[in-house]
Amino acid sequence: MLRILVSSLLALSSLFTPLSLKEEGIHELPNVHQVPRMVTMSFTHDTKHEMAFNYNTDYHTDTILEVSQDEDFSKDVIEFTGTTSKSKVSNDGFIHQVKATNLKENTTYYYRLGDKELNIYSPIGQFKTENNHPFTSFVHLSDPQMMEESNALTYGRLLNELTSSFDLDFLSVTGDLVNNSWLNNTPHLEQWEYSLTAQFDYLKNIPLMAVAGNHDESDYDFSSRFNYPLEDDQDGKGGIYYSYDYHDMHFIALNTNDTSNREDKDHATGLSSKQLTWLENDLKENSDAKWKVIMMHKGIFDAGSHSSNISGEDYDIPLIREQLAPLFSQYHVDLVLQGHDHLYSRSYPLTCLLENEELKVSYQEETIKVNKDNKEYDTYLNPKGPIYINTGSASGSKYYSVVNYDHDLIPLEKSYGSTNQMCTYYYVENDTLYGEIYELIDGKLSLYDQFALKKDDSILEENKPNDVGDNLQNNNNTLITILIVVSCVVLFGGLITFIIIKRRKHNG
Ligand SMILES: [Fe+2]
Repeated sequence: MLRILVSSLLALSSLFTPLSLKEEGIHELPNVHQVPRMVTMSFTHDTKHEMAFNYNTDYHTDTILEVSQDEDFSKDVIEFTGTTSKSKVSNDGFIHQVKATNLKENTTYYYRLGDKELNIYSPIGQFKTENNHPFTSFVHLSDPQMMEESNALTYGRLLNELTSSFDLDFLSVTGDLVNNSWLNNTPHLEQWEYSLTAQFDYLKNIPLMAVAGNHDESDYDFSSRFNYPLEDDQDGKGGIYYSYDYHDMHFIALNTNDTSNREDKDHATGLSSKQLTWLENDLKENSDAKWKVIMMHKGIFDAGSHSSNISGEDYDIPLIREQLAPLFSQYHVDLVLQGHDHLYSRSYPLTCLLENEELKVSYQEETIKVNKDNKEYDTYLNPKGPIYINTGSASGSKYYSVVNYDHDLIPLEKSYGSTNQMCTYYYVENDTLYGEIYELIDGKLSLYDQFALKKDDSILEENKPNDVGDNLQNNNNTLITILIVVSCVVLFGGLITFIIIKRRKHNG
C-alpha cells in the first residue's frame, strides 16, 4: 500500500539533496521526514500580486518560501516566512502555510519551499501573476477519489495531458480528491500522497482551486491541504467555502458538507444558514462581475443517482437544490460546476423559482451555432440562467451510469455515463465562454462535446422588459399627441370657417 508513497518520497529526496552537498558531489539524502510533501499552490484575493502555498512535513521544520524571477535563484530572491503548526489530523505531522505578497503583476516567478537552515527545499515550481488581458482558461476536474496506486497513475496521465495541451490559469476541482483518508479512526493519508505528492510534477506550476467532497470531509482533512482564506469565521472542520476573482470572472467555492441536522432526515434543512447568508452577500457584492461561476461537490441538477436521491440517502440534495437554484437565478450565475455523480451531464440554462415550497424550473432551448478554430459550438445567446455541469471522473476510480431522472425537474441537454476519464476545458474570450468536454482515450484527449455562452449587451438592451414597456408607453404618448394636434386643427379650422361665413352673411 505504501509503495507509491515511499517511491514518491525517495524520488523527491533525490531532488531535495542539499545544494552544498550536491556541489561537493556527495550524494547524501536529506531526512525524508523533513521533506515538504502534499504541496499545493492557490490563489488569494489578490491574484495580481499574491500566491499562497500549503504543505506537510513529518517532522517540525521552518516554513520558508523563496520566490525569484531567476530560475537558478542566484539573484533577486524574495523570502517569505510562513507558519508551522501541528496538524489537526491524526498522524499527519506538521502543516506549513505561507504566502508570497507584493509581487509584480503579469510576471513569471519561480518558487521553492522548505527550511533554509536545513537547506532542504521542494523541487522548483513556477507561477505567473494575473495580467490585464481578459483571457481566462481553466479546467474543471472532479472526483479523482484516490483509493489505490492505480488511481494515482491514471489521474497523473490525465493531468499530464492537460498541462501539456493547454496553457491554464488554474485547475478547478469539485471535490472527492481522496476516498476517506481518515475513517473509523483509521488514517489512510497515503490517499493524499496519491492525489498531491505523486502528481507534483503536473501540479507544481498551476494553482489548484478545489472544494471539499463528502469523501474529503474527515476532521480538518481538506483544510489541512490548502491555504484558502478561512473567512466568515469558519473553522474548516469539514471543508471551506470561499470566493476569488480572476479577470472578469467571479468564482464561488461552496462546501456542501456544511449542512444542518444532516443525521436527522426529518429535520435536515440543507446548507447551513451561515453559509447561505455568506453566499447571498457574496453574490450581492459581486453582482457586477461579468461571469459568475459556482463550484460545488454535490450536484443539484445532473443525471446521476445522487442528484435524483434514488436511494433516499441523498435527502440533503433536494433541500440544497431548493435553497440554491432560486438564488443562482436571481443573481445571474452563469455556470455551476458540480461533482459527486461521476458522469457527464449538461443542463440547459435554467431559471428556478420557489413557489409555495415547490421548485418551478423553466429552461432555454434555443441556441445559435458559433464556429471557432474549426469547431462548432452550440451557443446560448444571453443565457437566461446558469448551466449546471458534471464533468465525469478524473481518475476512473469509479464511474456512474445515467439514471431515469425526472426531466421536468432536471432538464438536461446532454448526459453520458462514460467509462473513460473526463474533464472540461473552459476559456473566456471577449464576450464568450467556451466549454470543451474531453475524454481520455488511449492516453490522448478526445473531444466529446462543446458548448458556449455568449453575452451580447446590444441585444440585451433591445430586449430588456422595461425597455419594451417604455417603448409601448412612448408609442401611446405619440398617438395621443397626434390626436390632440389633429383635434386642435379641426376645431380651430372649423371656428375660422364659421367666423368667415358669418361675416360674409353679415356683409351681404
Ligand atoms: Fe462524492
